[in-house]
Parts: sequence; C-alpha cells; structure tokens
Amino acid sequence: MKSTLFSSLILLAASAAHSQTSPAASDAGRSAPVAAEAAAATAPAPEKKPDVIFVPTPQAVVDEMLRMAEIGPKDVIYDLGCGDGRIVVTAAQRYGVKAVGYDIDPVRVQEAREKVRAAGVGHLVRIEQADVFTLDLTGASVITLYLLPQLNVRLMPQLARLRTGSRILSHNFDMRGAKPVEVRHVTVEPGGDGDFFVDEDGNHTVYKWVVPWEPEQAAP
Ligand SMILES: C[S@@+](CC[C@H](N)C(=O)[O-])C[C@H]1O[C@@H](n2cnc3c(N)ncnc32)[C@H](O)[C@@H]1O
Repeated sequence: MKSTLFSSLILLAASAAHSQTSPAASDAGRSAPVAAEAAAATAPAPEKKPDVIFVPTPQAVVDEMLRMAEIGPKDVIYDLGCGDGRIVVTAAQRYGVKAVGYDIDPVRVQEAREKVRAAGVGHLVRIEQADVFTLDLTGASVITLYLLPQLNVRLMPQLARLRTGSRILSHNFDMRGAKPVEVRHVTVEPGGDGDFFVDEDGNHTVYKWVVPWEPEQAAP
C-alpha cells in the first residue's frame, strides 16, 4: 500500500534518527545489490549518521530531473546524498557530463562506486564520502537533491554561492523561502523502487530553482 508524502516524511526522518549503521536496512535496502550488502560487513561505520535514510529516486523521476536541468556539455552535476549513484551515472550516460556523488554512508559510497564501474563511466563520475553540509558546492552547475524539506533549507547558504544560472532540482521536497521556477509531477509505474513515496494523487514531484532564486513570500 502506498504511503502519502506526509507519512513518508515522518518515516524518512524517523528512520534516519533511529538507524545505527545502514539507513537503507528498511524498505529501500531491497534494491541494494548483494555485493554492496556484503561490503557493508567490512565498511567502516559512518562518523556522523545520515540525516535521512536511503530511498532511491525512481528512474522515471531521475530522467525528468535531468531533463528539467537542461544539461549542456559543460555542466557539472553534484548529487547531494547520492545513494546508489543512479542520478550521477544516468547524467554521465545520457549527457556525457562530469558528475560527483556525495554520500555520508560508506555502504552507499561503495554501492555507488560499483554502479559507476559497472556502467563504465568512471572517467566522468566520482563518488565521495562526505557530509553534504561541509561541502563547497561552487564547482557544480547543477545540483540534485532528494533529502528532506528542512535539509534543503539547511543547504541554502551553500547553494546560494553557486554561479548565476546554476540549476537545483529536488525530488519531492521544496525549499522554503525559495520560489521554484518550475514544478512538475511524474507518475511512476507502481511496484518500482522508491515508488512508495508519492503524494496523495500517486505522483512524484520535481522542483527546479535557478540561482539566484527568487525569494518566496511566507504563507499568511
Ligand atoms: C533519499 S536518499 C537519495 C538517494 C539518491 N540521491 C537518489 O535520489 O536516488 C538520501 C541519501 O542521502 C544520504 N545522506 C543523508 N544525510 C547525509 C549527509 N549529511 N551528507 C551526505 N549524505 C547524506 C543518505 O545516506 C542517502 O543515501
């Protein structure tokens, strides 16, 4: 049965707060390759716990995020909290651009590096273990996010330093105080991974901002 976005938010945040090692050990972990799970046994524990659990973005939503980003050959994409690396791998495969995936969880980092290797895009994609809140993001011209609304807001000081014209795409979660230039809804075939985090209409949402973003008036 599908959860609404509201209950999903609670689940995502609560799961991250209570997870001890791999935040993907719940539902989302079912998509992790066996090799990556085996690697988990030897991977060092993360120094800081993830702020949100791993839930993959369905491929149809990844495709829409990258389409909305209007990627050109000189763009550099950072996925903040890259999970299994699907966004950066897709960007390299489809658009031939450079991309960096950052994740705080060493299990996800190993899984993403394996995906990069298997896709043969190691010359374009780098995967780094890092806390996204410590990063200088100015090397990117496109940022992708699938975190939580409050985490997007916490990233705003870093995102505001991006070059003019840089694009920010967020799956499902807005960024309070920044008015999106575009919002699109994506319907995903039921049963795929990540498909349980949908809104009440059964859709995923993608938000786009262009730097510098227009401030959003607070709701009365
Ligand atoms: C909802 S998943 C999104 C995965 C991927 N971006 C996608 O859309 O398929 C969020 C990811 O963020 C990572 N994460 C959580 N807190 C983080 C932090 N402070 N720094 C870096 N990564 C973090 C988690 O380990 C998880 O893999």
